[in-house]
Amino acid sequence: MGEITKPKKRKMKGIVLAGGTATRLFPMTATTSKQLLPVYDRQMIFYPLNTLIKAGIKNILIIVAPEHSGQFLNLLGSLLKKHDVHITFEVQSSPRGLAEALTLGENHIGDDNVALILGDNIFEDDFAKQIKEFRGGGHIFATKVPDPERFGVVKFNKNNKAVEIVEKPKEWISDWAVTGLYLYDNRCVEIAKKMKPSDRGEIEITDVNREYLKKKELEVTLFGGEWLDAGTPDSLLEASIIVKEKGISRNFHPILDQAINELNEELRIRSKKRLQ
Ligand code: DAU
Repeated sequence: MGEITKPKKRKMKGIVLAGGTATRLFPMTATTSKQLLPVYDRQMIFYPLNTLIKAGIKNILIIVAPEHSGQFLNLLGSLLKKHDVHITFEVQSSPRGLAEALTLGENHIGDDNVALILGDNIFEDDFAKQIKEFRGGGHIFATKVPDPERFGVVKFNKNNKAVEIVEKPKEWISDWAVTGLYLYDNRCVEIAKKMKPSDRGEIEITDVNREYLKKKELEVTLFGGEWLDAGTPDSLLEASIIVKEKGISRNFHPILDQAINELNEELRIRSKKRLQ
């Protein structure tokens, strides 16, 4: 009798999407990337990184705009190496849409699953359980908002089953916004490759979600903790206030906390040397 081979258990890779031009934050983003602007006491990118690291993800690709790649590399290139978290970078030459993260990340994803997170999304909740227990299909996270027309929105039927997802709906369909954390199995790369740009000229992540919904393989988790999308001067300020009040940056994974403390120490030593 032939040997029975167990199906390969796929790992979860991480992608942080930190490109884009952030025109709504001009002139602050004339000199740096939005995701490197401070939210309370650390750069914005640390928050989505923390969400992935808390879920035990050890292999993370950061997608950046060409003009900011050097700054990301300086901050994060070796920060987590000794803690066994590998960070690599890929340049997105222009912001063609969120789903491009999946095609730019094709080699990084390899045969594995992927947790894609937007570099300007800050979550109070911890999704480690859902990320660790992910087995296949797609899994998105939705929260109730007062202004659903600004987001991807998911509609439910009477039995609380997701039935429709629309990107920035002009007519009200539901108050549940799809937030910037997406878990996909390996098929997402092929799905994204087939996507055509939307009317606003972007390859939409909403279309990837709709594809999984069509296959009846999309899970939606609803949550009620703080969700901050820091894309405008007002929401950036609000994000800092809420992060401080709720102690979100005090609640980082020990690996990331330690790495940031080590960086602070190195910076102190460097500045001391300069004064000598
Ligand atoms: O924040 C959640 C929302 O994010 C979802 O509800 C929407 O369905 C989704 O389309 C997205 O909408 P936004 O209009 O807020 O996406 P935005 O263009 O602001 O991009 C989100 C982040 O991704 C931002 O940090 C910039 C980065 N980005 C964006 C694009 C279009 C890239 O790195 N590359 C890109 O091509």
